[in-house]
Amino acid sequence: MSVLLLLVLCTLAMGCGAAPPPQPASRPSPLLSLDCNSSYVLDIANDILQDINRDRKDGYVLSLNRVSDAREHRQEAGLGSLFYFTLDVLETGCHVLSRTSWKNCGVRIFHESVYGQCKAVFYINKEKRIFYLPAYNCTLRPVSRSAIIMMCPDCPSTSPYDLSNPRYMETATESLAKYNSRSPSKQYSVVKITKTFSQWVFGPAYFVEYLIKESPCTKSQGSSCALESPDSVPVGICHGSLSESQGNPGKMISVTCSFFNSQAPTPRGENTAVNQRPANPSKAEEPQQQNIASTNTPAKAVPKGSVQYLPDWDKKGEGSQEKDPVETFPVQLDLTISPQGEPLDVSFLFLEPMEVKLVVLPFPSKEKRSAECPGPAQKDDPLILPP
Ligand SMILES: *[C@@H]1O[C@H](CO)[C@@H](O)[C@H](O)[C@H]1NC(C)=O
Ligand SMILES: *[C@@H]1O[C@H](CO)[C@@H](O)[C@H](O)[C@H]1NC(C)=O
Repeated sequence: MSVLLLLVLCTLAMGCGAAPPPQPASRPSPLLSLDCNSSYVLDIANDILQDINRDRKDGYVLSLNRVSDAREHRQEAGLGSLFYFTLDVLETGCHVLSRTSWKNCGVRIFHESVYGQCKAVFYINKEKRIFYLPAYNCTLRPVSRSAIIMMCPDCPSTSPYDLSNPRYMETATESLAKYNSRSPSKQYSVVKITKTFSQWVFGPAYFVEYLIKESPCTKSQGSSCALESPDSVPVGICHGSLSESQGNPGKMISVTCSFFNSQAPTPRGENTAVNQRPANPSKAEEPQQQNIASTNTPAKAVPKGSVQYLPDWDKKGEGSQEKDPVETFPVQLDLTISPQGEPLDVSFLFLEPMEVKLVVLPFPSKEKRSAECPGPAQKDDPLILPP
């Protein structure tokens, strides 16, 4: 009864032109939930993933499987928007040092799949042509071993990051020796192994991928050369295998190498990785933006982020399969924990000397994401999609 009376009075007061009553503390969130399948969101996801891949020095280029969540926080007039994106990703066969765009890299076949999730905060100011990735974090896991064994008993089923078996290093050095023996003059040495698999074919078979650097030794010096190369900049990546067959003595070794963009030596008909970034109109302004950033305060323009590798889920699950999904893919990205947000200084992104502070909020939880999220997946297989 009294509630009704209050309502009536209220309506009357409003009708009479009185100021509306002060808003209580429950303000609506300033975050807009976006449609994860819209071209608006997919374009931004593409830019974010390119920036993440470009920032990394290790590992393989990540490709977008689907947009899991997308929010926009419009800033003050003229300051553009901050975006909070959660992307479900798949590892490709291109090493990040090849600088190949993720759209030109194929994802790995099922039993070699590595999948995961990235969270990113991204700033877009269309008016000023600024695209900036202040922060990201990703977590990756290989596809479940037990699922592979069930679906494909003959597929390689060891961890893709297993370095404990010395036969992987043996595979790398022996396959590179084979490559060097065919190389007209330049010689290479192993920087590090980046991927491992093993499989039983007619005997044990080992597969490795490894980065190589140029060796200061020439072919004529042969194996007696003990020079150490002054730097260890990886110039390419090789795929090597070593297999034995029971009954047949000896090892079968195969190798292919590809070189990163301009580093390619005289063409030898091998599959050379070329840096083919397609012209992207939305990014045409980027060189200018990077210039600004690097002439003013380079350190601040560098995105902060990392990619974390976890073991496959069965091993960790041990007994308790049904865990909280947050635990299975922990991706932490907290620029603030204050519900009101904190200022994020991005003045260095602007040409004019001015102070620009954005408001950054705690990363939104997926509970309140839009009904159009997650978007459709490129590879719609629950075994390679984060929960
Ligand atoms: C990114 O993840 C790492 C752990 O993997 C964590 O230490 C770091 O705080 C995270 N970054 C942010 C901004 O939350
Ligand atoms: C996503 O968008 C594409 C192209 O606009 C459309 O063909 C497709 O049906 C949409 N998928 C979903 C699940 O909404």
